[in-house]
Amino acid sequence: MLDKKHYPEALEGAVFSILSTAADELDLPAYVIGGYVRDYFLKRGQKKDIDVLAVGSGISLARKVEELLPHSTKVSVFKNFGTAMIKTDELELEFVGARKESYNRDSRKPIVEDGSLEDDQNRRDFTINAMAFSLNKSSFGALLDPFNGMQDLQDKIIRTPLDPDITYSDDPLRMLRAIRFASQLNFRIEQKSFQSIQRNAHRLKIISNERIVTEVHKIMMCDQPSFGFQLLEKSGLLKQFMPELTALKGIEEIEGQTHKDNFYHTLEVVDNISKNTNDLWLRWAALLHDIGKAPTKRFSKKVGWTFHGHEFKGSKMVYHLFKRLKMPLNDKMKFVQKMVRMSSRPIAVIDETATDSAVRRLVHDAGDHIEDLMTLCEADITTKNPRRFKKYHNNFQKVRDKIVEVEERDHIRNFQPPVSGEEIMKAFDLQPCREIGMIKTAIKNSILDGIIPNEHTAAYQFMIEKGKSLGLTPVI
Ligand code: CTP
Repeated sequence: MLDKKHYPEALEGAVFSILSTAADELDLPAYVIGGYVRDYFLKRGQKKDIDVLAVGSGISLARKVEELLPHSTKVSVFKNFGTAMIKTDELELEFVGARKESYNRDSRKPIVEDGSLEDDQNRRDFTINAMAFSLNKSSFGALLDPFNGMQDLQDKIIRTPLDPDITYSDDPLRMLRAIRFASQLNFRIEQKSFQSIQRNAHRLKIISNERIVTEVHKIMMCDQPSFGFQLLEKSGLLKQFMPELTALKGIEEIEGQTHKDNFYHTLEVVDNISKNTNDLWLRWAALLHDIGKAPTKRFSKKVGWTFHGHEFKGSKMVYHLFKRLKMPLNDKMKFVQKMVRMSSRPIAVIDETATDSAVRRLVHDAGDHIEDLMTLCEADITTKNPRRFKKYHNNFQKVRDKIVEVEERDHIRNFQPPVSGEEIMKAFDLQPCREIGMIKTAIKNSILDGIIPNEHTAAYQFMIEKGKSLGLTPVI
């Protein structure tokens, strides 16, 4: 169906006029389709990646565009996929020929046949992503919107062009994409579609973890990630790839004693932290900070519910989760582990009425991540009692003040003991041995405990005394 409306102003710029000329020279119907059109109407700012659809060979169109572009821009051709790509300084053009696709039930690999524009639009994920602008001169800027994506944009609804069971079965990743778009755009998923996701959630298993994680990252970077995570949970998708998180759901009661629902608490923490940071990995740390609570949960008559050691257990689980989801096992993962492992430390410091030595140890162990850790702990305050909320925040502010004070005085962040192992060996004429490590640890602890200042002279003197107490004799 050809919508009468034309939007040539959406295709302003040299690239679009080159695309138009190239399409006409080859006598190929060509369109800008998908995200670019959607984001134009949503006024989300111009998209950098532009999907160009040719009814015919997308590769030929790309080659023609390459010829017409003023600079020596090269086209990359992916013969196996029938696609091509041109990167200019500002834009990334992806060319594809219109297809009529059907998929194998158990794989993402489509059986591809050439098709018409309508065939191609039919096989796209959502009505709002199936809209196209014509590029050919005679109809430049015409909107082709066969499924009334414009109306769905206005009504803020995610809907599939075909029966959702077919669209999701063609590519089960689309179930996650539905939730991702709903979260990013603050749209609602049509009920029929959501029910289909619930029915087909198990089919996510044929999707690679990399593709899943790409979508999860996008949900995580939304203003209010809980919106997406609640839908992921409700749809049954979350349990497919992150059962550690769904295991936190629920409240148990024994002898009248309950614990909080750690799943919803976690989501609140993620929302809280997202107001204060755009660091993807700190947001991940918030998402995973309590995952150790399911396996460590115990009930005893004396103390009620406990989650002893959940931080340590949780940090181990971070590794397994990252590994399984094929996420990077690098310093990002180590950062998340560290945040999870240390997530209760600032609270413990408050319980010790924030003594200097407790704060020094905290700063020493957190190193450069102390700010992030404080941000996480503050986000962890989810009490609905305003008096307590204020009290906890005040307490953390006191810890922050104390951190500044201790840092200024003792320079404890990333500190190395002021006496080196070599100096110890020299002072007692030692070969490498256990005592050197013992002395070094003793020096470090004395500094952290405030027994001696973080200075060479005091530390050297302390080393001599400590060595003597271990039965060593100084030689200098
Ligand atoms: N598409 C699809 N099914 C998928 C992935 C993509 O039908 N599983 C189609 C949609 O028409 C989509 C277009 O391919 O608009 C481009 O996909 P992609 O670049 O992943 O998404 P965008 O819509 O461009 O949005 P974003 O950049 O936010 O991911």
